Amino acid sequence: MPVKSKSVTIPDNLEYDTDLFVVPGCYREDIKSVIIPAGMIQDRIKQLATEIHAKIGDEPLILLCVLKGSYRFFTALVDELTAVRYNCKTSLLVDFIRAKSYENTETTGKLELIGLSNLNELKGQNVLIVDDIVDSGLTMSRLIFTIQELGAKKVWNSLLLSKRVPRKVEVDENFVAFNIPDKFIVGYGLDYNQKFRDLNHICVMSEKGIEKYKNAGQ
Ligand code: HPA
Ligand code: MG
Repeated sequence: MPVKSKSVTIPDNLEYDTDLFVVPGCYREDIKSVIIPAGMIQDRIKQLATEIHAKIGDEPLILLCVLKGSYRFFTALVDELTAVRYNCKTSLLVDFIRAKSYENTETTGKLELIGLSNLNELKGQNVLIVDDIVDSGLTMSRLIFTIQELGAKKVWNSLLLSKRVPRKVEVDENFVAFNIPDKFIVGYGLDYNQKFRDLNHICVMSEKGIEKYKNAGQ
């Protein structure tokens, strides 16, 4: 059975009116509701860093940011981990990748990793993959496979969001901040056609917003 971390569950029916929080004017009509306010994201990441440190301890660690979606989660997590590791004698290393899926739908295939400074740098290392969201599980299972192939000693993952949808492939979820309903969400790094990454809260799109930015990424 795959490992499933404990996390904060956001119920299906929990949606806050956008006028209860600060939502930039440029996005107000594109957003239907806020489901995770920014403050709650910060608080949860602080505790997640403690959970990670309790499990991994003072071992040297490489944190791997899966761009683009996890850039905000990543920086917040690194800050919090650095704070809880103030007594550690070993360093945290950070690196950044983009995962390019091949066209086929094999579940355990390799991924092309773009951006790793040196393909040998993961050899023999403890690696924590930091990603924004898991839904089908395909990308994460391929990432784990690829990083193991590069010779990593131990591989964990940390996810900002785990969506309650059936997985196409079962994958371990080691450190998860939030478990969310099956809704298309944006904000805190997650985009819709490259928009909304700068939104501070995690929000559900409105029909109007979905229509307006349908072709924005092309
Ligand atoms: N929003 C943005 N990106 C995503 C989502 C989502 O709900 N699910 C998978 N990638
Ligand atoms: Mg992603």
